[in-house]
Order: sequence, then C-alpha cells, then structure tokens
Amino acid sequence: MPLVTSTEIFKKAYDGGYAIGAFNVNNMEIVQGITEAAEDLRAPLILQVSKGARAYANHTYLIKLVEAAVIECPDIPIVLHLDHGPDFETCKSCIDGGFTSVMIDASSKSLAENIEITRKVVEYAHDHGVVVEAELGTLAGIEDAVHVKAEDSSYTRPEDVEEFVTKSGCDSLAIAIGTSHGAYKFKPGTKPQLRFDILKEVERRLPGFPIVLHGSSSVPQDLVAKVNKFGGKMPGAIGVPEDQLREASRMAVCKINIDSDLRLAMTATIREHFVEHPEDFDPRQYLKPARQAIKDLVAHKITDVLGCDHKA
Ligand code: G3H
Ligand code: 13P
Ligand code: ZN
Repeated sequence: MPLVTSTEIFKKAYDGGYAIGAFNVNNMEIVQGITEAAEDLRAPLILQVSKGARAYANHTYLIKLVEAAVIECPDIPIVLHLDHGPDFETCKSCIDGGFTSVMIDASSKSLAENIEITRKVVEYAHDHGVVVEAELGTLAGIEDAVHVKAEDSSYTRPEDVEEFVTKSGCDSLAIAIGTSHGAYKFKPGTKPQLRFDILKEVERRLPGFPIVLHGSSSVPQDLVAKVNKFGGKMPGAIGVPEDQLREASRMAVCKINIDSDLRLAMTATIREHFVEHPEDFDPRQYLKPARQAIKDLVAHKITDVLGCDHKA
C-alpha cells in the first residue's frame, strides 16, 4: 500500500490502547531492520527523518529508501514523517517532497508564537493532504529532572492544550512529561518516573486526541554493557522504563519516538564485531549483524512496549 498519513492508525491505536512506533532512519540498514521487523509482525509504522538525517544522508536518498521499504512491505501502513521540523520552509520542503506527516517544533517559542507558526504549517500541510504534529512544553533534560518545582516550567501545562490545539489546528500533540532525548535521561541513582498526572489531565481535556511522546528510548542496559565491554564509554546511560511506556501507550499516547536505542543496538553490535573479528574489513560483515540487531530491538518494542503487533 502507498505511504499513509497517521490519521487512521492513530484512531485505531487510541481506541485499541496501543501506540505506533516512530523510529528515526538515517541509512539503508536502519530502514531495513525496522521495516523487516514491522512487516513480520504486521505492525503499522512511522519512519521519521530529522533535520540531521536529511543533512547526513540527503533528503532524496532517504525518501527513495522509504519508497523501497513500502514496496518490500506491502502488508503494513507506513507513514513518512519529518521529525522536529525547525521552521515552515523545512516542513514545506518535506510536504512538497512526498512526506505524509510533518512535525513543526516551535516549542521553544511563546505559546502565541508557537500557535502562529504551527497554524501556518497546518494550513499548507492540510491543503496537501499531510498531517501535522506540534509540541507544547520542553522536554526535560537531566538537570531538570532532579528539581521538583523548577522543572514544572518545562513540563507541558495542561491548561494550555485546548487553546493550542483549537487555534493551531494540529493533528497530534507532543507533550513533555519527563522524557528527554539521548541516552542520559535520568540521574544515576534516581528513580525514573514519568508524570502520568499531566498525561491524564491532557487526556481529560483533549478526549480522543492523539498524544506523542518524544525521548522514549529505554537505553537497554545489556546494550550499554556491551558498548562498554567492547571499548565504548557510556557510564550512567539510563532511559525510560519500558513498563511506563506501555502504560502511556494504553492511555492517549499514540506515537512513541525511539532513536537512541537504535543507535545503541547498532553501535554495540559493530563494536563487538570489530573486537571479535579484527580481520574483517568488508562493511557487509558488520552491517549485517547490526541490521539484525535493529530488527530484533524493533520487534521487541513493537510486541512488548508498544503493543502494536498484528494491528495492521
Ligand atoms: O530528536 C532527536 C532525534 O533522535 C534525532 O536526532 O537530530 O541527531 O538526527 P538527530
Ligand atoms: P530518544 O533519544 O529517546 O530515542 O528520542 C528520540 C526522539 O524523540 C526523536 O524525535
Ligand atoms: Zn524528539
């Protein structure tokens, strides 16, 4: 089937109490690992491309890789999404280039500016049959997470969400409830805890509306240990507990963003390969197991974290 927007798959996810995995893609092996897992498990899928991915791999190469995946995976709906679009021009370029979904990330601006920028993207996107994710609140960083009151300013304010969604016209909303980007999400020794009270209040104020969680890698400790064992240096890397993501996906969260865990799986596997097979110099020798590691990781996410297997 051709690329789809997220409208239908979010509706089913909301009603069915599961979430769709949104995985970042940067090269062929990553696209293949993710899509092979989703196709095997009949799971709807979002492939997302960041500004950095476009700069690294070239927009056209990434689109063509995703188009190839659509041909190879005839049984699942796939969304091609711009991750963290920084401005209208980038969103427009992706909409014109065949993306079916874009994120405009104006979360660092004031509420009024965020609404205005998002509204402009929404008008252009909807005219072209494309859906828009927006963001309200700033994702907590590791420093923010240890303060109780001060960090509240970076969490999404539930009292803003109705006005934001109504005035901006966005199709889904990313909120900040304690997740953060990267592999160091919480201070070692502290108990990672998402703010389900905020999520519940957002859900109450926006019934039926799809919510998005960024920064949702779990930073599997076996992968961190493997990276460190084979020459890496990632002390104190910690992610979001998987059971909390599963809980969020039973609620209004319909899209869960995962990138760092893919990076960890690939890096751990390649590091291990280099140490155990120092004679190898053909990239296929280490990229093949790296691709398989991504496939295994994504299969686990789909089945055990998102609960979206056999939903396509
Ligand atoms: O939100 C961040 C994603 O992990 C994308 O990261 O900008 O390094 O491609 P990137
Ligand atoms: P992680 O760094 O937790 O994988 O988050 C990725 C993300 O939010 C992409 O937008
Ligand atoms: Zn993100």
